[in-house]
Amino acid sequence: MEHFLDVYRNRTSSSERLFRRAKVVMPGGVSHNIHYFPPYPFFLKEAKGSKIYDVDGNEYIDLWMGHYTHILGHHPQLVVEAIEKQLREGIHWGIVFEKQVAWAELIQELVPCAEMVRFCCSGTEATMYAVRLARAWTGKKTILKIAGGWHGANPDLSVGIKMPYEREESLGLLSELQDYTRTILFNDLSQTLQTIQKHRADLAGIILEPVVGEGGFSPATEEYLKMLREETERSHALLIFDEVISGFRLALGGAQERFGIIPDLTTLGKVMGGGFPVGALVGKREILEATSPERKGKKWERILIGGGTFSSHPFSAAAGLAILHHLKENKDQIYPCLERKGEELRRGLQEVFNQEGVNGMVTGIGSLFQIHFPFERKEGLHSPHLINEKTDIEKREVEFRIRMLNHGVHVMHGGGSLSMAHTDEDLKKMIRATREVAKEMARSS
Ligand SMILES: Cc1ncc(COP(=O)(O)O)c(C=O)c1O
Repeated sequence: MEHFLDVYRNRTSSSERLFRRAKVVMPGGVSHNIHYFPPYPFFLKEAKGSKIYDVDGNEYIDLWMGHYTHILGHHPQLVVEAIEKQLREGIHWGIVFEKQVAWAELIQELVPCAEMVRFCCSGTEATMYAVRLARAWTGKKTILKIAGGWHGANPDLSVGIKMPYEREESLGLLSELQDYTRTILFNDLSQTLQTIQKHRADLAGIILEPVVGEGGFSPATEEYLKMLREETERSHALLIFDEVISGFRLALGGAQERFGIIPDLTTLGKVMGGGFPVGALVGKREILEATSPERKGKKWERILIGGGTFSSHPFSAAAGLAILHHLKENKDQIYPCLERKGEELRRGLQEVFNQEGVNGMVTGIGSLFQIHFPFERKEGLHSPHLINEKTDIEKREVEFRIRMLNHGVHVMHGGGSLSMAHTDEDLKKMIRATREVAKEMARSS
């Protein structure tokens, strides 16, 4: 039987050629490390609905959906129309405009903690500002983050992302970062509580994704979130939810609406820009107001939140406004539908692994899911550190991904996100493809 890498190479020769060209001008041929996988990534030509098409003419059902952005599918007509209209009005102004206000008003209405909104260009910027604001507001320095949690490449949170979670993540970052950014274990009440107690006097804030993207999209337990809410209050520290992925996806008001725990600050991105570059820091009025340029005071009282030539770009505002309006108007149809599809897919995929004798495990919530290959029998995989310690990441990221591509399905971290464009037929195809791949894996092991 042909090796899966040979099948991939045979199907993607134009991509291979493009990758050779790309490597000459971009380190590793990419501008975001997640876009690389060995032996080389396929290059895209077009995307529509649930499907993407590469430069060799291969069609795939896409589950990456532009880094989990496209909740309605690729290239939705309502975003296309909003952008065509915006294009006639203007491209980029760097001056405030009405759509920006309407967009902020809508976010204020939809996201429980969003009494005020500050836009920026990416989730990375939003989390950078969240940390800065937490430190400025509390006058303290220590931030706790989840071991394995990814909040973009901002330096303050580039600690403890990869195993063994002990160091800053890159050469070029100050090693002192680790003194002020400490890690806690997701859903581990006693370790987290101990760490909070140890750092309470200097605790500025705790930042976490209520559903961790690098942790199988496992949700935080109610007990865990309640404890974090109580302990941050007791410590005069801020609770920050990073809802860059879960915002407008897990529910219209994000994970905070779904789980009923309201943080002080929230970072947003992805879905809210309709496919255009976006980020936002939202939260309690009195805290956000502290960043206002209208605030009188001495220079040292200034809290600088917001720079960015392209902050609240008219295209992001137009697309974001269109998509959020649509989600609001159709929420009773959209969220139950995404929920049903997610549940059906997770159940179907788990059945495949059970039936084909492959030790695979499906995790996730709502429209988000991941597949893992535990080294031992199935265990509770409800946290990034457990997934990294107990499962074969290499198998998921290379072998499973490429075998799935060979069967016309594009997964990220073994799974991805569903959109309104994924049909029941797409779900059946994904389950069929996974069955074929599971059979191949069982034969080759
Ligand atoms: C939870 C989370 N926070 C922050 C970010 C950074 O967002 P961006 O890539 O827009 O900078 C990401 C990106 O994937 C993310 O998943």
